[in-house]
Amino acid sequence: MKQPIMIVAGIVVLVVGGIFVSAQLNKDSDTDKMHSGGSSNTASADKSAVTDLSAQTEVAINIQDFAYEKANLKIKVGTTVTWTNQDDARHNVVTEGEGAEKLASELLAKGESYSFTFTKAGTTTYLCEPHPYMKGTINVVE
Ligand code: CO
Repeated sequence: MKQPIMIVAGIVVLVVGGIFVSAQLNKDSDTDKMHSGGSSNTASADKSAVTDLSAQTEVAINIQDFAYEKANLKIKVGTTVTWTNQDDARHNVVTEGEGAEKLASELLAKGESYSFTFTKAGTTTYLCEPHPYMKGTINVVE
């Protein structure tokens, strides 16, 4: 009679152990999710790789799908940048915090543009006030 009890006990241990192991695996997959979140941050960092247009004096940036094109841009002093909204939603272009330049557009409807001529060297980070996750950085060089 003892052997069946041992077998049942063994099964219980296996089941409980299995639940524990799968809980650990779930934990690991959560960790993986966090890691993949981290790597998608890396991907967005890649997406915002610097666009060097310091050889131009006019730069056009589309605002599309709730994002600024050329979101990490390098230009030279004297360059005029024109943002054009291609979305149905209204967006603007406003300097975040202390930037080298004070960008301050109206809310742009679809098809509307905002132009700004950069006269100072330095870095300006800007955002869209209604959607502050929309950001861009412009590094102005001499
Ligand atoms: Co916006």
